[in-house]
Amino acid sequence: MSRIAAVFVALFMSASPSYAEDVQPVKYAGPYVPSPQSVVADMLRYAEVGPNDFLIDLGSGDGRIVRTAAKVFGARGFGVEIKEDLVRQANEAARQEGIGEQARFYKQDLFKTDLSQASVVTMYLLPDTVNLLKDKLLAELRPGTRIVSHDYPLTGWTPEKDRVFDLEEKVAISGVKTTILWLYIVPAKVEGHWGVQLPPAVSKRAGTLELKQQITSVHGWLRFDGQETPLEAVKLRGDRLSFRLAGRQGDFEGRVKGDAIEGTVRIGRASAPWRAKLGR
Ligand SMILES: C[S@@+](CC[C@H](N)C(=O)[O-])C[C@H]1O[C@@H](n2cnc3c(N)ncnc32)[C@H](O)[C@@H]1O
Repeated sequence: MSRIAAVFVALFMSASPSYAEDVQPVKYAGPYVPSPQSVVADMLRYAEVGPNDFLIDLGSGDGRIVRTAAKVFGARGFGVEIKEDLVRQANEAARQEGIGEQARFYKQDLFKTDLSQASVVTMYLLPDTVNLLKDKLLAELRPGTRIVSHDYPLTGWTPEKDRVFDLEEKVAISGVKTTILWLYIVPAKVEGHWGVQLPPAVSKRAGTLELKQQITSVHGWLRFDGQETPLEAVKLRGDRLSFRLAGRQGDFEGRVKGDAIEGTVRIGRASAPWRAKLGR
């Protein structure tokens, strides 16, 4: 366990008696240790939060992340928190700041919270909790949803970007100045066997696209005209999929909409549409 995690866990142990009186969550996800206000602003900027966003903070403490998202970035959202006094404090602060409609707080177990409304999820939780949430995040969030985790990564999920910096205020929280922000983008689900209509310049007959997926990492091949061609440079960012065909011309890009992909193939200066439908 890293030093940051060890100090965080130690804080949790010292915080546990008061929590025990409060609730019985599926799992206690971490003590109340607020993110420094400068980190809150950094997290929101990192996720490019704006007026069209709906943000959910998992374990919202005094509500500072959702309140800042509403006050400074014009977003709406809610926080869930198991400690009743913190929920009350957060709702009262939001009311006094005139953002009671945009920023709401509920006494609720984060593991039982419906996340489907979010376009941004934020969290500052124990390292193992962050990872216990991985399947839930992937199952409930729409492709393209941004997730910012303060200090602890989602293991096995390649971040869109991460940023490491020193902050004096963190010494009191985690024993070291080091602060890390991890930004993830929820990928569309593309694994499977797709029937493909290619532009005539590539093939006049239907093909098949076979995709294997490990979160954001995708590989596969396209079969057409009796040949199987591996995909190269495959990228999946939210609902945007792009790839090339090994040894052939053509840059494919497409948008995944449930069980369909629609996009264009660019060959030299020309571009033509292609589409795929997920097989049963
Ligand atoms: C480290 S604090 C983060 C507070 C706030 N998000 C921030 O960054 O300033 C984690 C919070 O999660 C809350 N918490 C722990 N387990 C929880 C659970 N199962 N459901 C909801 N909240 C939980 C704790 O009470 C604590 O306030």
